[in-house]
Amino acid sequence: MNALPPGKTMNEKYYVGYYDGERLIAVMDLIMAFPDKTTAFIGFFMTNVDMQNKGLGTSLVAELCDDMARIGKKEVRLGWVNGNPQAEHFWKKNGFVETGATNEMEEYTVIVARREL
Ligand SMILES: CC(C)(COP(=O)(O)OP(=O)(O)OC[C@H]1O[C@@H](n2cnc3c(N)ncnc32)[C@H](O)[C@@H]1OP(=O)(O)O)[C@@H](O)C(=O)NCCC(=O)NCCS
Repeated sequence: MNALPPGKTMNEKYYVGYYDGERLIAVMDLIMAFPDKTTAFIGFFMTNVDMQNKGLGTSLVAELCDDMARIGKKEVRLGWVNGNPQAEHFWKKNGFVETGATNEMEEYTVIVARREL
C-alpha cells in the first residue's frame, strides 16, 4: 500500500477502495504522474473474487480513463506479470497495448502497457 515508483512521493499516490455499500469490491493503486506529468500509472488493480468476470473491472477502468482524460492526462500506463493470462486478457480487452518495454524482477518479468486517452 505504500509502494512508490522511483522519484515519487505519497502525495502523488491514491490507494482507492471501491465500495458497494459497506462491501469492498475493488482496489486500485494510482500514481497521478508517472513516468511523466501527463501519464497516470496504475500500480495495482484487483476486483473482489466474488465479483470477477461480471464486467466490474472493465467499467471501473473505463470510468477511470474518462476521469483522467477530463483532468488532462494523455495516457494511462501499467504493467502485468508475464504469463498471467487473466491480467493480459483483461488489459488488452480494455484497450491497453504493450509498449515493448519490460521490467525484469528477480522472479518474474513485468510487461509494460499503455492506453492513449
Ligand atoms: C484482472 C481483474 C482486475 C479483472 O476484473 P473483472 O472484474 O473480472 O473484469 P471483467 O469482468 O471486466 O473482465 C474479465 C475478463 O477476464 C477474462 N478472464 C478471466 N479469467 C481469465 C483467465 N484465467 N484467462 C484469460 N482470461 C480470463 C474474462 O473472460 C473477461 O474477459 P471477456 O469479457 O473477454 O470474457 C480481476 O480478475 C482481478 O482482480 N484479478 C486478480 C488480480 C490481477 O491479476 N490484477 C491485475 C494486475 S495487473
